[in-house]
Amino acid sequence: MKGDPKNLGFSTRAVHAGQHPDPRTGSVAVPIYQTSTYVQEQLGEAVHYEYARVQNPTREALEEQVAVLEGGVKAHAFASGMAAISCLMTVVQAGDHVVVSRNVYGGTFRYFTRILERYGLSFSWVDTTDLGAVEAAIGPRTKMVYIETPTNPVMDITDIAAVAGIAHARGAGVAVDNTFLTPYLQRPLALGADYVVHSATKFLNGHSDSICGVLISSRPEDAEWFALVQKSSGAILSPFDCFLVMRGIKTLVVRMDRHESNARRIVDCLVGHPKVQRVLYPGLPDHPGHEIQKRQASGFGSMITIEMGSFAAAKAMLDRMQVMSFAESLGGVESLISHPASMTHASIPPERRAELGLTDGMVRISVGIENVEDLIADLEQALAGV
Ligand SMILES: Cc1ncc(COP(=O)(O)O)c(C=O)c1O
Repeated sequence: MKGDPKNLGFSTRAVHAGQHPDPRTGSVAVPIYQTSTYVQEQLGEAVHYEYARVQNPTREALEEQVAVLEGGVKAHAFASGMAAISCLMTVVQAGDHVVVSRNVYGGTFRYFTRILERYGLSFSWVDTTDLGAVEAAIGPRTKMVYIETPTNPVMDITDIAAVAGIAHARGAGVAVDNTFLTPYLQRPLALGADYVVHSATKFLNGHSDSICGVLISSRPEDAEWFALVQKSSGAILSPFDCFLVMRGIKTLVVRMDRHESNARRIVDCLVGHPKVQRVLYPGLPDHPGHEIQKRQASGFGSMITIEMGSFAAAKAMLDRMQVMSFAESLGGVESLISHPASMTHASIPPERRAELGLTDGMVRISVGIENVEDLIADLEQALAGV
């Protein structure tokens, strides 16, 4: 397209933002600039492209696309979601304190407790759905409140705008892991957050064929700092993976709509099912975070957690699944089903998992875009065998 898609609809932005036609050929798809370096015409002449750890046109296109969708000033793309989170955490320094949603992704918990605590950072693990608890946890050294909403896999919903109000009043920034909902359904920067991170491995890429992460900033000075960290620590996303994520994002809207409509039909079948003790899905009116989610997001996503009552019941179900793949990860076009306690959250000690309500009987479903009748039939046959 000609012109700037910034003020156009979300789907138009997803397709066009950052996707400038190739200056040499007019190629509609941004080429994969698979190069490590760039020829410079003359010694001493300033050039934009010098070395591909620092600048790459394919990566720049993806970063512009994501920044526009999240409403940030700049995005930086990394070799994984964890690499994006690592870059984010360079805004805090030794002696600083961070308040964190108590049941974040297990890898984030491991990174904060096993790596960052060694560098003099301290963390308070707080139920961020409880605004009083957030307020109480903030102290004079608190520099950041780090939220995941919905949380993985217990589906706690945190009020982003309210937390941002509390944190900012006390001089702390707010970071949100927006992996589960994507900017199509939830835009944390517009709600007052300062930073957004994604495991782009999930819904943004959407095809389970790349590990990638993005970090979006709302202020130019943060973006400048993250650019320095990105080129200095070097965990950049490869041009080919940038191409894959960019291509995935172009269909984000149609995928997310189908993911969610499938999820709603599946939730209807699981609620009240005799083999399922509980269904955790923010779209259910009796979910404690339902009203907040309705207010701060434009959908409920396609992540569902069910309580089967015991490890044995969860295993019996998982072992029988045929269409849904038993695998870690989420957000792909194919439905994935997993056992958080022994997979994604195995790095969280059992007693802590118990405190969080993350039981051995929990099964997490990332609903894909297949024919929903096939997914329902698969779940029915697996549950019948429990
Ligand atoms: C919510 C969330 N954040 C971050 C990550 C880490 O991302 P990656 O696996 O791309 O490093 C994950 C991975 O599962 C996740 O689910």
